[in-house]
Amino acid sequence: MKLTMRLGERSYDIVLKRGALANLGQLANLARKVFIVTDSGVPPEYAAAVKAQCAEGVIYTVPQGESSKSLKTYEALLCAMLEAGFGRGDAVVAVGGGVVGDLAGFAAATYMRGVDFINCPTTTLAQIDSSIGGKVAVDLGRAKNIVGAFWQPKLVVVDPDTLATLPRRHFVNGLAESVKMSLTSDAELFELFETGDVDAEIETIIRRSLLIKKSVVERDETEQGLRAILNLGHTLGHGIEAVKGVTGRHKNGLYHGECVALGMLPMIEDKRLQKRVRAVYRRLGLPARAAYDKQKVLAYMLHDKKARGGQITLVKVPGLGCWRLDKAPLAELERIVMGK
Ligand SMILES: NC(=O)c1ccc[n+]([C@@H]2O[C@H](COP(=O)([O-])OP(=O)(O)OC[C@H]3O[C@@H](n4cnc5c(N)ncnc54)[C@H](O)[C@@H]3O)[C@@H](O)[C@H]2O)c1
Repeated sequence: MKLTMRLGERSYDIVLKRGALANLGQLANLARKVFIVTDSGVPPEYAAAVKAQCAEGVIYTVPQGESSKSLKTYEALLCAMLEAGFGRGDAVVAVGGGVVGDLAGFAAATYMRGVDFINCPTTTLAQIDSSIGGKVAVDLGRAKNIVGAFWQPKLVVVDPDTLATLPRRHFVNGLAESVKMSLTSDAELFELFETGDVDAEIETIIRRSLLIKKSVVERDETEQGLRAILNLGHTLGHGIEAVKGVTGRHKNGLYHGECVALGMLPMIEDKRLQKRVRAVYRRLGLPARAAYDKQKVLAYMLHDKKARGGQITLVKVPGLGCWRLDKAPLAELERIVMGK
């Protein structure tokens, strides 16, 4: 199945098809130098399958994990591209999850002021959400995604077969972003999470999520307004992630989607819906309650928000399939974190 992200001259296709990775060469121009970025946790056969279709493919493997979204890894990657003689007409292909996509995309956005970028996401999170929309970035210390760009890919190839090797917790972690989109925009998708078989219906889940994100990005490519709804749960989620997340190198760290799942709960105003969402989390295996140091989370969020200009815009969910953007003072953060 093919969707088209309609962004004028930056439009591109999103191909969702089992086995599509092995046919990338039929979908994209690989008759040039292709810099294939992957990470050490992604089964190497995926990048190898892409390389086999390239005229001149180079595989570049970064260590797995959020810490690869750093300026250091980014610089090393650019140096490798330069040394391998990559030019403006060549291409970068990401084969991996959101970490690889964000890092490789940012390298593509900035190398020689921008080269073609093709994203082949291999995690649920990346297939559902992060591979489309053009947000690419690296972290600056604990500040997530602070150095980045809007750089749309030329093509996104979603091959759900690659999810077969994904550890269960990562599979479920990505579903959190789909639950997020269903809450604001697709009641039927939410009901699928309540009663459906998520493994059997994964293609439907990916397709419906991509349709929601696509429609939001098409209306607000650079996040001037509407696109903020995709940040539901992220204000608190990023705070939890900094303190308790794998980025914070916590012993029992939480993944990005798990933090977002927790961050969404206080934003749901209807208590009965909040109960249904917790039930969905328990059904999927997402955390429905997590012990975290609220003071530390609050301190991080206040610091982060001040550093980003002191504005907070919260996405609230008054009921299933509805949303509202609330501009709030910084003091609102305390109420949210402390559950007051
Ligand atoms: N750009 C955006 O719009 C956007 C949106 C949401 C999240 N993100 C970013 O995405 C990142 C999280 O992405 P993620 O959850 O995909 O994590 P990830 O990229 O770290 O991948 C999770 C783990 O799965 C492994 N892996 C990947 N594919 C695999 C496969 N098919 N089989 C086996 N193992 C596999 C990886 O090695 C990694 O260890 C965060 O940095 C977050 O900020 C970006």
